[in-house]
Amino acid sequence: MQGVRYRRLVAALGGMLAALAGASPALAAAPQSLLHPAGPQAEELAKAITWDILAITVIFVPVALLALYILARFRRRPGDDELPPQVDGNPRWELGWTLALIVGLVIMVLHPLPAEAFFERLPKGEKTLTVEVIGHQWWWEIRYPDYGIVTANEMHIPAGTPVIVKTWSADVIHSFGVPRLGGKNDALPGRVLKFWLEADEPGVYQGQCYELCGASHARMLARVIAHKPEEFDAWVQARQNPVVAVPEGSLAAQGEQVFRGLCAACHTVDGTPAKGTIGPNLTAFGTRTSIGGGVLENTPENLAVWLADPPAVKPGSIMPNLGLSQDNIQALVAYLQALK
Ligand code: CUA
Repeated sequence: MQGVRYRRLVAALGGMLAALAGASPALAAAPQSLLHPAGPQAEELAKAITWDILAITVIFVPVALLALYILARFRRRPGDDELPPQVDGNPRWELGWTLALIVGLVIMVLHPLPAEAFFERLPKGEKTLTVEVIGHQWWWEIRYPDYGIVTANEMHIPAGTPVIVKTWSADVIHSFGVPRLGGKNDALPGRVLKFWLEADEPGVYQGQCYELCGASHARMLARVIAHKPEEFDAWVQARQNPVVAVPEGSLAAQGEQVFRGLCAACHTVDGTPAKGTIGPNLTAFGTRTSIGGGVLENTPENLAVWLADPPAVKPGSIMPNLGLSQDNIQALVAYLQALK
């Protein structure tokens, strides 16, 4: 009877391991998986994690097998009424495995490179790009100090260039990270932290806030859009010369009037009188891929949903429900989508 149970247990464990192995390619392909690196910084982190998992497996498997063997071999059998003889233990063995554990732990702790390798050390002598990322409840302000560009939630970078990311916060503690490109760093009020990330290839890489920061923490997403270097230069050019003019008498022109009256106190559009700094800078909004801190794709329909009642999309949103009429919403959508 016990033999049958033992075999069932082994079969169940084997099945679980097989299922994990089968699921791992899916895990590795997840958009925010550290095990699916897309840049040198993320590569280093993935190596360190893989090494730890291997080391843990090498220790765990023999210990678990030994425990299963002992459970089976020395289990209570019919007719075993007495306790087995009790012993004090074996000082030599106990000292041995205590020391082995300590040595194992020290190796595991020391093996990954020192922390500065992940956060500070850059490939020497390379051209870098500096980007400032400022956490707000619940969106990311993204600044390019060398180019005078301010945007939100979507960071454009050139592929193959290390990007120095400086993080801080305008309110509570946030944490900015893009797992496939590198580590992550807290965004603290009143203190600037630095780390770097890099994308090997052009593409879109998903990130998010990693520190519980209030009601819409889980809706504080970020996208890093990596371009070929010449396409990045074109993006910088375009952002430095944004399209703000809308045809006279158009729906977008009506929207511009509504925007000046209701939105400009909180939002900036470069090249216009709108200079508010409470909400995200909306220059070239029509080129963004997402809205509301990455919660919705940027389509006219979604933008209308957002404008009608922001806190319904994003609980706690500082942008209130302005009670806009459908006409005003459609005009604002036309205006915002025209900003390129
Ligand atoms: Cu910001 Cu969580």
